[in-house]
Amino acid sequence: CYQNSMLRIFHRKHLLLNLNKNLTTQLSQQPLAENQKVVSFDDNVKQRRDEANRSILVQVQSAHSFHELQSYCSSVGTVKKMMHYSTGVEPMHFIIVEFAKASDLQNIYTMSSYIEDTQVVPVQSSYLWFRAATKKLSKNKNKSIHKLNVENGNHILRDNELLQVLNSCADVNEQMVNLHNSTRLNEVGTRLRFLVAKQIEMAISGMFPNSAALPFGSSVNGFGKMGCDLDLVLRLNDESKVITDETRLVYHCKALSGSERSISQRHMEVIGDILQLFLPGCSQVRKILQARVPIIKYYQQLTDVECDLSMSNTSGYHMSDFLYIMGAMDHRVRPLIFTIRRWAATVGLTNSSPGRWITNFSLTLLVIGFLQNLPKPVLPSLNALVKLAGKNDKYITDDGINCTFLRDINVYLATNPIENTDSLKILLLQFFVYYSQFDFSSKAICLNESMAIAKPEHSALYIVNPLERGLNVSKNVSPEELEKFRLEVRNAAWLLESDETKDSNWGIIPLLTAKRILSMNNGNLPRTKLLEVSKLFEDDKDGPVYKNNDVKKQVQ
Ligand code: GTP
Ligand code: MG
Repeated sequence: CYQNSMLRIFHRKHLLLNLNKNLTTQLSQQPLAENQKVVSFDDNVKQRRDEANRSILVQVQSAHSFHELQSYCSSVGTVKKMMHYSTGVEPMHFIIVEFAKASDLQNIYTMSSYIEDTQVVPVQSSYLWFRAATKKLSKNKNKSIHKLNVENGNHILRDNELLQVLNSCADVNEQMVNLHNSTRLNEVGTRLRFLVAKQIEMAISGMFPNSAALPFGSSVNGFGKMGCDLDLVLRLNDESKVITDETRLVYHCKALSGSERSISQRHMEVIGDILQLFLPGCSQVRKILQARVPIIKYYQQLTDVECDLSMSNTSGYHMSDFLYIMGAMDHRVRPLIFTIRRWAATVGLTNSSPGRWITNFSLTLLVIGFLQNLPKPVLPSLNALVKLAGKNDKYITDDGINCTFLRDINVYLATNPIENTDSLKILLLQFFVYYSQFDFSSKAICLNESMAIAKPEHSALYIVNPLERGLNVSKNVSPEELEKFRLEVRNAAWLLESDETKDSNWGIIPLLTAKRILSMNNGNLPRTKLLEVSKLFEDDKDGPVYKNNDVKKQVQ
């Protein structure tokens, strides 16, 4: 117990030290240097899957087991990297061990064993635990190879820690960059998610050696925060393994019978049972098979990751590619979207459970639509990327959805440099103003064309699905929730614009603590504040009136 609390204190100390250190070093999200290339989404996913194929997750007694484990693993293969993290109130400690070669992992599996217990399912996976040594081991001489790096943990910043970070920034731009850097999914979080995906592939690899459990959504699209859920799509046969002219021997396979949907539901039932009955760490398995896209929800408790597994959502992966591209186009996009997503969660516009409110996904599309629509756009339309698509960019999903668009954004940026140089603060304010004045009653947001188009039907909020143009991704949003959105963007613009003092509540801080301010007034701003907000948006013949003339210039 004493050792555990000392460890916790040690971890906290390091965390705060790192946070402070990060204040000066975290401006990593910076414009691309000349000749610096953006890694494509596909290459990024490939590299992460490869990393997971060479990694194991080992539960250890404490962070101090690091060197002993390193020494043990090094006797089996070449250890490339090790990262520690802990999870739970009474923390369980884990170390991710990455080997240099996938064959090193085979040696690990050969050497590992099961506990002698008839009450467990003896399943082989890359999730192991490190038993205390029975013999006294000679001290490891190699201690300097890997330093224990607590920075690599999976700590989710508490509100007060984040406020501390934001308070010590020099200006709003730095606040937004630091918000992004200190809350985004980190290296450990990303690796854990790919290990979760690999657990499923490995479990069914006997029957389906070419299966792929592909992460999509915020875990990989560049907009994921620490603790975000993992969206997975499981394919039983990766596309590249289909018959070619040279193939002479072909596998005998069972014929499918029934509708595509019923087959998929049946398969998912079985996968759900495998997760529940056989796979270590997989708990709280819920099969939601009647939904438009049937999914299995479960909690992977060894990695502390909530998962949504589907087998038919093939366009989700390409949608994530599109969002990844949008985030990678310009260094301001991710900090802006992180700030807006956090603000929306604070004021209760978004909610982790599904319902009549705006989802994070819809909100992200709203921000992208706004950035495409500026007089000097920050982002291009999807159509511009479609026009530049090469032959390697052609993708049509099994259900016929055309997901063809340019994947290598270096090609686009080489000939279309982004001319907009507005600061993050200006962009944030412009976003709030843009949507406070948007004509939601007759217009739809359309990312394909970079413009608002006439609304095809009467949903309260209409955002054209960029990959399936006949669909509205925000069909679920009720008129009341849209009204709340309109009110909140006005309040936010008012809060941001009226920020003149630099006490402890300045810059974006009031936006991220607004819940507390609003809750004191039963969810409403004081009447006087509302009047001032509406004054801020009073139209005159030259356009909207702003208190701050600099902002007015920029917005126009
Ligand atoms: P968080 O999980 O909230 O962090 O964000 P997310 O982007 O992962 O959202 P979510 O888990 O709800 O959805 C995962 C992915 O599924 C999204 O990134 C989209 O690619 C896709 N998706 C979500 N909602 C819709 C929708 O209404 N229509 C379509 N076509 N795709 C969606
Ligand atoms: Mg998600």
